[in-house]
Amino acid sequence: MKTMENLSTIRKEAVEKIKACKDNGALNQLRILYLGKKGPIQEVMKTMKDLSKEERPAFGAKINEIKQELSALIEDRRTLLAEKEMAEQMEQEKLDITLSGFVPNVGNLHPLTIVQQELEDLFVGLGYSVAEGPEVECDLYNFERANIPKDHPARDMQDTFFINVEELLRTHTTAVQMRQLEKYHEEGKELIKVICPGKVYRRDDDDATHSHQFMQCEGLVIGKDIQLSDLKGTLDFMAKKMFGESRVIRFRPSYFQFTEPSVEVDVSCHICGGKGCSVCKGTGWIEILGAGMVHPNVLEMAGYDPNVVSGFAFGVGIERVAMLKYGIDDIRNFYTNDLRFLKMFNRFE
Ligand code: PHE
Repeated sequence: MKTMENLSTIRKEAVEKIKACKDNGALNQLRILYLGKKGPIQEVMKTMKDLSKEERPAFGAKINEIKQELSALIEDRRTLLAEKEMAEQMEQEKLDITLSGFVPNVGNLHPLTIVQQELEDLFVGLGYSVAEGPEVECDLYNFERANIPKDHPARDMQDTFFINVEELLRTHTTAVQMRQLEKYHEEGKELIKVICPGKVYRRDDDDATHSHQFMQCEGLVIGKDIQLSDLKGTLDFMAKKMFGESRVIRFRPSYFQFTEPSVEVDVSCHICGGKGCSVCKGTGWIEILGAGMVHPNVLEMAGYDPNVVSGFAFGVGIERVAMLKYGIDDIRNFYTNDLRFLKMFNRFE
């Protein structure tokens, strides 16, 4: 069986060559050599005629088997080489997508602006308009029209920076309300719904809860038959929108020169829900604003007849709302421009 031996030598050699083959070109050469028309296997086949009739079928089958085996080996090798080539290419053309790109510096709104805009949205939704006024204000609108005449002791509560005897840095945005009241009267209107957000100034020693400059958002509603219950409903709505739907409010008697009666408004603590905690100092309530029914003198000074129209006013501190909403314990954080603080309000980071 010389031919059979030849055949297995050829097979062995072919298998080794295929396994050692390093590139596609060489692999093709091997394919042509072993499976093509001229090659060692074909050579051996020529000797088939020398075999006996009985030996031939086994020999033919063996050749087919070897051809099939080699063909499969070549295909496997081709796949392997292709994978290797791809891996090498990937390695060379490596694109490190884990490298962070250039992150654009996206700014964000100041927390006080966020709260101011929330309040504006809320009241605009109730049909109010938004009014602004000068920060350097006349004594007339800041005090006198608010029923605080010159030399009245109520002025002591709101000492401020005077530019001259008649001009000062406004102490409350009530001054804007007084301007609006006058304007609406001149226009002959008997329904006013306005909010006045803005900066105000007082002679205060700055500490964790006081600042010589802070922000207010005051509201004024004038019309026929406006009552204290309207004020309560409005503020209840505001408290729920700003601090959560389960909040309730309560009124306590208070004193403001420009409202009568005057109330201090507390909202049930949004941290403990009213049980008492350190934020509400154990009371379950947090004071958020001052309010009341517009004093008849104020209406009269603007030209309105207090027997015909009535109204309510309220004033909320924007810092106070922001501090409660975001759990900020020092008002000075709002003004020192520390980016670590300001960026906490960035929705994109
Ligand atoms: N103007 C008052 C203040 O600055 C707040 C206030 C506004 C109170 C309107 C009553 C009505 O403290």
